[in-house]
Amino acid sequence: VIGRAAPEERLAVEGGRPVRETLLPYGHQSISEEDIAAVANVLRSDWLTTGPEVERFERAFADYVGAEFAVAFSSGTAALHGACHAAGIAPLTEAIVPTLTFCASANCVLYQGGAPVLVDVNRDSGLISASAIEHAISERTRAIIVVDYTGQPADLDAARSLAENAGALVIEDASHSLGAVYKGRKIGTVADLTTFSLHPVKHITSGEGGVVTTTRPELAERLRAFRNHGIQRSPDPQTPWSYSISDLGFNYRLTDIGCALAASQLRRLDERLARRKQLAVRLERGLAALPGLRFLERAAENEHAWHLFVVALALDELTVDRPAMIRALREEGIGVNVHYIPLHLQPLYRTLPSVGRGEFPNADWLHDRIVTLPLFDGMSDGDADDVVHAVTKVIANYSL
Ligand SMILES: Cc1ncc(COP(=O)(O)O)c(C=O)c1O
Repeated sequence: VIGRAAPEERLAVEGGRPVRETLLPYGHQSISEEDIAAVANVLRSDWLTTGPEVERFERAFADYVGAEFAVAFSSGTAALHGACHAAGIAPLTEAIVPTLTFCASANCVLYQGGAPVLVDVNRDSGLISASAIEHAISERTRAIIVVDYTGQPADLDAARSLAENAGALVIEDASHSLGAVYKGRKIGTVADLTTFSLHPVKHITSGEGGVVTTTRPELAERLRAFRNHGIQRSPDPQTPWSYSISDLGFNYRLTDIGCALAASQLRRLDERLARRKQLAVRLERGLAALPGLRFLERAAENEHAWHLFVVALALDELTVDRPAMIRALREEGIGVNVHYIPLHLQPLYRTLPSVGRGEFPNADWLHDRIVTLPLFDGMSDGDADDVVHAVTKVIANYSL
């Protein structure tokens, strides 16, 4: 059935038999017996929160990406907040953010009292547009926040040179791209600050969690204080109990329990990335010949981390719109989703003066068309083939 249009199959949404009886989600965690044992060991130890597992995980994570410093946070959102603080986002400053992203990429600027300046993305890839960044830079710009949408590195060279000229830093929201490679360099060392999420649908998880990596000691210092109420311990060995607080911080600590889980997961990361890639290739091969959809464009020189498998519907080849496609695919047992509703369409962001002025034709175009198909490393080849079968079936019924 793979790749073959089968118009004789009645759609589940019209009363036919679904491709799957149970819903295949778009993403899912993968937990091994070693992960469970690692967590159980912590539960039997003296430390539940900030103990030896935090440092061990941070070291292992920094080594994996090749960065000098990794600072663990209680979520990817907290990691972004920490990065904004470290980059000097504050009232009367601005940070440039692509509009096609998860809300946390821009909310973190608001947490600091700064103004997110939303910009458009490239239509082919969904990645932030370099010319849009250039257009949006002002004397208030403190950071350019780029997002490695779906797991593909953004144009980091362009962001870096524009940031350097503006005296700003690059914050890379790499929530989708742990393990990706940009021009031969692992993601985590290219931007001034790179943030990761350890949410269960991501490449590795700690339940909830996040990490910021950097090669700059002064930024790492600011991040560490920020995640622990702003507390800086006394460097004087005579007064190890003493501390001072100069900047406001939060309790954004990640627990030893979470760090033990994430460290155990990290050991299988390469294997899991390889499986994601294998599945992405299988999906692409199965879907390549179909009318009605297109793949996002990829830069040949970079390695994709395949967090999400997003396709763009070719609406002029279909008889229905995206909501109808999504309804039909879900009825077939395929848990498709949308990543994301662009931020400039959200009431919270629409009312910001820095956003209201903008125009986002490419994000608007993508927003009418993008659909996320299931992809996670625990999927079997049969699961991927079910996705291909269901998409083929729905398109056969809905193509012009
Ligand atoms: C692009 C992006 N940024 C930030 C986040 C926030 O991460 P977390 O859910 O760990 O707070 C996510 C994850 O949901 C994300 O996909």
